[in-house]
Amino acid sequence: MTVLRIETVTYGVDDMPACIAFMENWGLEKLEGGAAGADFRTRENQRILLRKSDDTALPATEEDGPTVREVIWGVDSPEGLSAVAAELSSDRDIREDGAATLHARDDSGFAIGFALADIAPADPPEVALNFHEDIRRINADNWPAERATPLRIGHAVYSIRREGNRCAAQFYMERLNFRLSDRSEDGGTFLRCEGSNFHHTLFLFHRQGTRNYFNHLAFEMPSFDEIMTGGSHMKKSGAVSVSGPGRHSLGSNWFWYFENPCGGNIEYFADMDRMNDDWQPRYWEQSPPYARWMLGDDVLTG
Ligand SMILES: [Fe+2]
Repeated sequence: MTVLRIETVTYGVDDMPACIAFMENWGLEKLEGGAAGADFRTRENQRILLRKSDDTALPATEEDGPTVREVIWGVDSPEGLSAVAAELSSDRDIREDGAATLHARDDSGFAIGFALADIAPADPPEVALNFHEDIRRINADNWPAERATPLRIGHAVYSIRREGNRCAAQFYMERLNFRLSDRSEDGGTFLRCEGSNFHHTLFLFHRQGTRNYFNHLAFEMPSFDEIMTGGSHMKKSGAVSVSGPGRHSLGSNWFWYFENPCGGNIEYFADMDRMNDDWQPRYWEQSPPYARWMLGDDVLTG
Protein backbone atom coordinates (compact mmCIF):
# COMPACT_ATOMS: atom_id res chain seq x y z
CA MET A 1 0.00 0.00 0.00
CA THR A 2 1.53 3.29 -1.05
CA VAL A 3 -0.27 6.59 -0.67
CA LEU A 4 1.05 8.80 -3.47
CA ARG A 5 -0.63 12.15 -3.08
CA ILE A 6 -3.83 14.05 -2.37
CA GLU A 7 -6.25 12.99 -5.09
CA THR A 8 -9.45 14.92 -4.43
CA VAL A 9 -10.52 17.64 -2.01
CA THR A 10 -14.20 18.32 -1.50
CA TYR A 11 -15.38 21.64 -0.09
CA GLY A 12 -18.84 22.36 1.31
CA VAL A 13 -19.51 26.02 0.44
CA ASP A 14 -22.27 28.60 0.93
CA ASP A 15 -21.80 31.16 -1.85
CA MET A 16 -21.32 28.93 -4.89
CA PRO A 17 -20.88 31.67 -7.55
CA ALA A 18 -18.25 33.48 -5.45
CA CYS A 19 -16.42 30.24 -4.74
CA ILE A 20 -16.40 29.20 -8.39
CA ALA A 21 -15.02 32.63 -9.35
CA PHE A 22 -12.36 32.37 -6.63
CA MET A 23 -11.09 28.99 -7.85
CA GLU A 24 -11.06 30.22 -11.45
CA ASN A 25 -9.00 33.22 -10.34
CA TRP A 26 -6.71 30.85 -8.44
CA GLY A 27 -5.81 29.36 -11.83
CA LEU A 28 -7.55 26.00 -11.73
CA GLU A 29 -9.19 24.47 -14.78
CA LYS A 30 -12.97 24.25 -14.43
CA LEU A 31 -14.39 21.00 -15.77
CA GLU A 32 -18.01 21.73 -15.03
CA GLY A 33 -19.95 24.11 -12.88
CA GLY A 34 -23.43 25.31 -12.02
CA ALA A 35 -25.71 26.23 -9.17
CA ALA A 36 -25.27 22.86 -7.44
CA GLY A 37 -21.49 22.72 -7.59
CA ALA A 38 -18.35 22.73 -9.67
CA ASP A 39 -15.40 20.44 -10.42
CA PHE A 40 -11.89 21.76 -10.95
CA ARG A 41 -8.63 20.02 -11.79
CA THR A 42 -4.93 20.71 -11.36
CA ARG A 43 -2.42 20.18 -14.16
CA GLU A 44 -1.48 16.89 -12.52
CA ASN A 45 -5.14 15.83 -12.58
CA GLN A 46 -6.23 16.17 -8.99
CA ARG A 47 -9.80 17.26 -8.35
CA ILE A 48 -11.18 20.10 -6.27
CA LEU A 49 -14.91 19.68 -5.86
CA LEU A 50 -17.22 22.46 -4.67
CA ARG A 51 -20.55 21.36 -3.28
CA LYS A 52 -23.28 23.13 -1.33
CA SER A 53 -22.57 22.90 2.40
CA ASP A 54 -26.07 21.53 3.03
CA ASP A 55 -25.57 18.69 0.51
CA THR A 56 -26.52 15.61 2.51
CA ALA A 57 -24.11 13.48 0.47
CA LEU A 58 -21.16 15.27 2.12
CA PRO A 59 -19.51 13.86 5.24
CA ALA A 60 -20.65 15.69 8.37
CA THR A 61 -18.31 18.25 9.94
CA GLU A 62 -17.99 19.73 13.42
CA GLU A 63 -17.12 23.11 11.86
CA ASP A 64 -19.54 25.94 11.18
CA GLY A 65 -19.60 27.56 7.75
CA PRO A 66 -17.76 26.61 4.57
CA THR A 67 -14.88 24.17 4.92
CA VAL A 68 -13.19 21.11 3.46
CA ARG A 69 -15.48 18.17 3.99
CA GLU A 70 -13.21 15.36 2.76
CA VAL A 71 -9.62 14.80 1.64
CA ILE A 72 -9.22 11.74 -0.60
CA TRP A 73 -5.73 10.28 -0.88
CA GLY A 74 -4.51 8.67 -4.10
CA VAL A 75 -3.17 5.12 -3.72
CA ASP A 76 -0.82 3.30 -6.09
CA SER A 77 -2.80 0.15 -6.99
CA PRO A 78 -6.04 -1.81 -6.45
CA GLU A 79 -4.07 -4.07 -4.11
CA GLY A 80 -2.97 -0.98 -2.20
CA LEU A 81 -6.56 0.14 -1.91
CA SER A 82 -7.57 -3.30 -0.57
CA ALA A 83 -4.73 -3.11 1.94
CA VAL A 84 -5.99 0.27 3.19
CA ALA A 85 -9.48 -1.19 3.57
CA ALA A 86 -8.16 -4.20 5.48
CA GLU A 87 -6.01 -2.03 7.74
CA LEU A 88 -8.63 0.56 8.62
CA SER A 89 -11.62 -1.75 8.90
CA SER A 90 -10.04 -3.33 11.96
CA ASP A 91 -11.11 -0.40 14.14
CA ARG A 92 -13.45 1.93 12.22
CA ASP A 93 -16.26 2.08 9.72
CA ILE A 94 -15.19 1.99 6.08
CA ARG A 95 -17.60 2.65 3.25
CA GLU A 96 -16.89 1.94 -0.40
CA ASP A 97 -18.94 3.91 -2.91
CA GLY A 98 -19.83 3.04 -6.49
CA ALA A 99 -16.73 4.84 -7.76
CA ALA A 100 -14.39 2.46 -5.89
CA THR A 101 -13.51 5.12 -3.35
CA LEU A 102 -13.13 4.25 0.31
CA HIS A 103 -14.48 6.66 2.92
CA ALA A 104 -13.46 6.73 6.58
CA ARG A 105 -12.38 9.10 9.38
CA ASP A 106 -8.92 9.76 10.76
CA ASP A 107 -8.25 9.70 14.51
CA SER A 108 -9.11 13.40 14.82
CA GLY A 109 -12.49 12.80 13.18
CA PHE A 110 -11.73 14.40 9.81
CA ALA A 111 -13.35 12.68 6.82
CA ILE A 112 -10.73 11.00 4.64
CA GLY A 113 -10.96 8.79 1.60
CA PHE A 114 -8.80 6.63 -0.65
CA ALA A 115 -8.97 6.09 -4.40
CA LEU A 116 -6.69 4.92 -7.17
CA ALA A 117 -4.37 7.76 -8.16
CA ASP A 118 -4.92 9.02 -11.70
CA ILE A 119 -1.82 11.10 -12.33
CA ALA A 120 -1.23 13.17 -15.45
CA PRO A 121 2.12 14.80 -16.26
CA ALA A 122 1.99 18.40 -15.13
CA ASP A 123 4.42 19.57 -17.86
CA PRO A 124 5.64 22.65 -16.00
CA PRO A 125 6.82 25.54 -18.13
CA GLU A 126 10.59 25.92 -18.41
CA VAL A 127 12.11 28.46 -16.07
CA ALA A 128 15.35 30.05 -17.30
CA LEU A 129 16.96 32.36 -14.75
CA ASN A 130 20.26 34.20 -14.95
CA PHE A 131 22.36 34.42 -11.78
CA HIS A 132 25.86 35.83 -11.95
CA GLU A 133 27.60 33.83 -14.71
CA ASP A 134 25.16 30.92 -14.53
CA ILE A 135 23.38 32.10 -17.67
CA ARG A 136 20.30 30.18 -18.71
CA ARG A 137 18.79 32.80 -21.00
CA ILE A 138 20.51 35.01 -23.55
CA ASN A 139 19.06 37.39 -26.11
CA ALA A 140 15.65 36.73 -24.59
CA ASP A 141 13.46 38.49 -22.05
CA ASN A 142 11.80 36.95 -19.01
CA TRP A 143 8.27 38.30 -18.80
CA PRO A 144 5.97 36.00 -16.89
CA ALA A 145 2.36 35.59 -17.97
CA GLU A 146 -0.13 37.67 -15.99
CA ARG A 147 -2.03 34.59 -14.89
CA ALA A 148 -0.52 31.70 -12.96
CA THR A 149 -1.43 28.03 -13.14
CA PRO A 150 -0.93 25.71 -10.14
CA LEU A 151 0.78 22.43 -10.99
CA ARG A 152 -0.69 20.28 -8.25
CA ILE A 153 -2.02 20.14 -4.72
CA GLY A 154 1.01 19.69 -2.47
CA HIS A 155 -0.37 19.51 1.05
CA ALA A 156 -3.33 19.81 3.35
CA VAL A 157 -3.16 21.20 6.88
CA TYR A 158 -5.52 20.46 9.74
CA SER A 159 -5.53 22.43 12.95
CA ILE A 160 -6.01 19.93 15.74
CA ARG A 161 -6.44 19.91 19.49
CA ARG A 162 -3.20 19.91 21.41
CA GLU A 163 -4.39 17.05 23.57
CA GLY A 164 -3.76 13.80 21.71
CA ASN A 165 -1.80 15.45 18.90
CA ARG A 166 0.84 12.72 18.88
CA CYS A 167 -1.80 10.04 18.47
CA ALA A 168 -3.36 12.01 15.61
CA ALA A 169 -0.03 11.79 13.75
CA GLN A 170 0.59 8.18 14.74
CA PHE A 171 -2.54 7.20 12.85
CA TYR A 172 -1.05 8.37 9.56
CA MET A 173 2.41 7.01 10.33
CA GLU A 174 1.54 3.60 11.71
CA ARG A 175 -1.60 2.78 9.77
CA LEU A 176 -0.89 4.45 6.41
CA ASN A 177 2.95 4.49 6.25
CA PHE A 178 3.34 8.26 6.28
CA ARG A 179 6.87 9.46 7.13
CA LEU A 180 7.80 12.00 9.77
CA SER A 181 9.79 14.99 8.49
CA ASP A 182 9.72 17.48 11.39
CA ARG A 183 7.85 17.70 14.66
CA SER A 184 7.78 20.57 17.13
CA GLU A 185 6.20 20.40 20.54
CA ASP A 186 4.74 23.89 20.28
CA GLY A 187 3.69 23.71 16.60
CA GLY A 188 2.82 20.43 15.03
CA THR A 189 3.80 17.41 13.00
CA PHE A 190 4.94 17.56 9.38
CA LEU A 191 4.26 14.29 7.55
CA ARG A 192 4.80 13.12 3.99
CA CYS A 193 2.90 10.27 2.43
CA GLU A 194 5.01 7.29 1.41
CA GLY A 195 4.97 8.00 -2.32
CA SER A 196 5.89 11.68 -2.08
CA ASN A 197 9.22 13.35 -1.37
CA PHE A 198 7.71 16.70 -0.42
CA HIS A 199 8.75 17.76 3.09
CA HIS A 200 5.06 17.61 3.94
CA THR A 201 1.92 16.47 2.23
CA LEU A 202 0.08 16.69 5.56
CA PHE A 203 0.66 19.00 8.53
CA LEU A 204 -1.16 18.51 11.81
CA PHE A 205 -0.97 21.92 13.46
CA HIS A 206 -1.62 22.31 17.19
CA ARG A 207 -0.16 25.72 17.99
CA GLN A 208 -3.49 27.02 19.29
CA GLY A 209 -4.75 23.53 19.87
CA THR A 210 -8.23 24.26 21.11
CA ARG A 211 -10.37 22.78 18.35
CA ASN A 212 -10.24 20.77 15.14
CA TYR A 213 -10.68 22.57 11.85
CA PHE A 214 -9.38 22.62 8.29
CA ASN A 215 -6.50 25.11 8.12
CA HIS A 216 -5.35 25.31 4.51
CA LEU A 217 -4.78 23.63 1.17
CA ALA A 218 -1.54 24.35 -0.73
CA PHE A 219 -0.83 24.37 -4.45
CA GLU A 220 2.61 23.99 -5.95
CA MET A 221 3.59 26.66 -8.49
CA PRO A 222 6.24 26.31 -11.20
CA SER A 223 8.32 29.26 -10.03
CA PHE A 224 8.64 32.15 -7.62
CA ASP A 225 7.34 34.41 -10.38
CA GLU A 226 4.12 32.43 -10.57
CA ILE A 227 3.59 32.77 -6.84
CA MET A 228 3.90 36.51 -7.28
CA THR A 229 1.85 36.84 -10.47
CA GLY A 230 -0.80 34.49 -9.06
CA GLY A 231 -0.90 36.31 -5.75
CA SER A 232 -1.00 39.71 -7.43
CA HIS A 233 -3.93 38.58 -9.53
CA MET A 234 -5.74 37.31 -6.42
CA LYS A 235 -5.28 40.66 -4.68
CA LYS A 236 -6.56 42.54 -7.73
CA SER A 237 -9.56 40.20 -7.72
CA GLY A 238 -10.36 41.17 -4.14
CA ALA A 239 -8.85 38.20 -2.30
CA VAL A 240 -7.50 38.85 1.20
CA SER A 241 -3.83 38.03 1.77
CA VAL A 242 -3.35 36.52 5.22
CA SER A 243 0.39 35.74 5.26
CA GLY A 244 3.29 36.35 2.94
CA PRO A 245 4.80 36.24 0.50
CA GLY A 246 7.78 34.74 2.30
CA ARG A 247 9.95 31.67 2.80
CA HIS A 248 9.19 29.24 5.62
CA SER A 249 11.75 27.67 7.92
CA LEU A 250 10.33 24.15 8.10
CA GLY A 251 10.01 22.88 4.53
CA SER A 252 11.91 25.96 3.24
CA ASN A 253 9.13 26.69 0.75
CA TRP A 254 8.19 30.08 -0.58
CA PHE A 255 4.59 30.78 0.42
CA TRP A 256 1.70 33.19 0.02
CA TYR A 257 -1.60 32.53 1.80
CA PHE A 258 -5.08 33.93 1.15
CA GLU A 259 -8.47 33.61 2.76
CA ASN A 260 -10.57 31.11 0.84
CA PRO A 261 -14.35 31.63 0.70
CA CYS A 262 -14.63 27.86 0.13
CA GLY A 263 -13.15 27.27 3.61
CA GLY A 264 -9.90 27.79 5.50
CA ASN A 265 -6.96 29.42 3.80
CA ILE A 266 -5.25 28.60 0.52
CA GLU A 267 -1.56 28.75 -0.35
CA TYR A 268 0.67 29.12 -3.35
CA PHE A 269 4.06 27.51 -2.70
CA ALA A 270 7.25 26.48 -4.51
CA ASP A 271 10.77 25.23 -3.84
CA MET A 272 9.88 22.98 -0.91
CA ASP A 273 12.54 20.69 0.62
CA ARG A 274 12.41 17.12 -0.66
CA MET A 275 13.04 14.10 1.57
CA ASN A 276 13.67 10.43 1.13
CA ASP A 277 14.07 7.69 3.73
CA ASP A 278 17.67 8.82 4.43
CA TRP A 279 16.18 11.89 6.13
CA GLN A 280 16.39 11.79 9.91
CA PRO A 281 13.22 13.31 11.38
CA ARG A 282 13.88 16.38 13.47
CA TYR A 283 12.27 17.04 16.84
CA TRP A 284 12.02 20.62 18.04
CA GLU A 285 11.07 21.65 21.55
CA GLN A 286 10.37 25.07 20.10
CA SER A 287 9.71 25.65 16.42
CA PRO A 288 12.28 27.58 14.40
CA PRO A 289 11.03 30.96 13.13
CA TYR A 290 7.87 30.88 11.01
CA ALA A 291 9.75 32.45 8.08
CA ARG A 292 13.32 33.12 7.00
CA TRP A 293 11.94 36.28 5.40
CA MET A 294 8.48 37.56 4.65
CA LEU A 295 6.58 40.70 3.76
CA GLY A 296 4.46 41.89 6.67
CA ASP A 297 4.11 40.32 10.10
CA ASP A 298 1.05 38.13 9.70
CA VAL A 299 1.53 34.47 10.55
CA LEU A 300 -0.92 31.65 10.17
CA THR A 301 -2.73 30.63 13.31
CA GLY A 302 -3.40 27.05 14.08
FE1 LIG B 1 1.27 25.25 3.82
